Amino acid sequence: MAYSLGLVGHPISHSLSPWIHQNLLKKAVLEGTYTLYNIPVESFSREIEKLKGIQLDGFNVTVPYKQAIMRHLDEVDSTAKRVEAVNTVACRNGKWIGYNTDGSGYIRSLRDAYPDIFLNKSIRIILIGAGGAARGIYDALVQNGFYYIDIANRTTDHAVQIKELGNTFTETTIYSLDKVKNGLDGYDLIIQTTSVGMKPNDNEIIMVPEKVTESSIVSDIVYQPICTRMLQIAKRKKASVHYGHTMLLYQAQHAFEIWTGKQITVEDLKEPLQKQLEGR
Ligand code: ATR
Repeated sequence: MAYSLGLVGHPISHSLSPWIHQNLLKKAVLEGTYTLYNIPVESFSREIEKLKGIQLDGFNVTVPYKQAIMRHLDEVDSTAKRVEAVNTVACRNGKWIGYNTDGSGYIRSLRDAYPDIFLNKSIRIILIGAGGAARGIYDALVQNGFYYIDIANRTTDHAVQIKELGNTFTETTIYSLDKVKNGLDGYDLIIQTTSVGMKPNDNEIIMVPEKVTESSIVSDIVYQPICTRMLQIAKRKKASVHYGHTMLLYQAQHAFEIWTGKQITVEDLKEPLQKQLEGR
């Protein structure tokens, strides 16, 4: 069988998902296509309903439709329901089923880079930012049994909503950005989840990680550039770093698994993906 896959979003012409999924198909020795469905906001509902007439096996959903897609689905899995966003749809027996692989992709990429931190669930973690990405990552950290997950955000109310995803064991303190920048040495894992620092604004930084030390891991979900200003400073301070493009690969790996049932290794795609990104 040939898989019919794709991506729904707007704008998506620069997306790397076709490149990643073509590679996964090749590695899995499967036939298939991955088509871009670039749908303008004003015709979203109409175009999505039209897609139901096409025999798709599955598709990814990206900005700005991760919430809007939900009302067009037949079923939504528990993670996507909790984080209220869908980035992967499986089409099975005429039904559209929504999933979210952003948080799981983040966790997989972290486990690949730093497996040891999963041996100690009481490490101290802080998320910077409280948007959709932070929501997915916070939920995945909670589901993976981490207890101490603080959140720092410009608008603290947004962080309060994310904290509600915690369970009875989770301990979360919410900070303003200013409050936290001098206390970063208290954290084992610092996760930058906003788009601040992304090209073409790669000279921007949400906070200068003055107080990071060599015992911390600094993670940035921005992947263009691969080494953001935040990560450059972290490296200078001898902290360990975790790159955003690896999350991109692992969320695709999980989506591909949902569609095909095959878990394909992606470690060997990290470097080629970096080259693709650097070539843009
Ligand atoms: P995504 O869904 O990709 O995570 P988002 O929902 O727009 O994106 O979330 C953006 C996050 O980045 C938010 O936490 C936002 O802070 P607010 O909650 O205060 O809006 C944060 N953010 C974006 N630009 C920022 C900036 N220039 N300075 C500080 N925080 C910023």
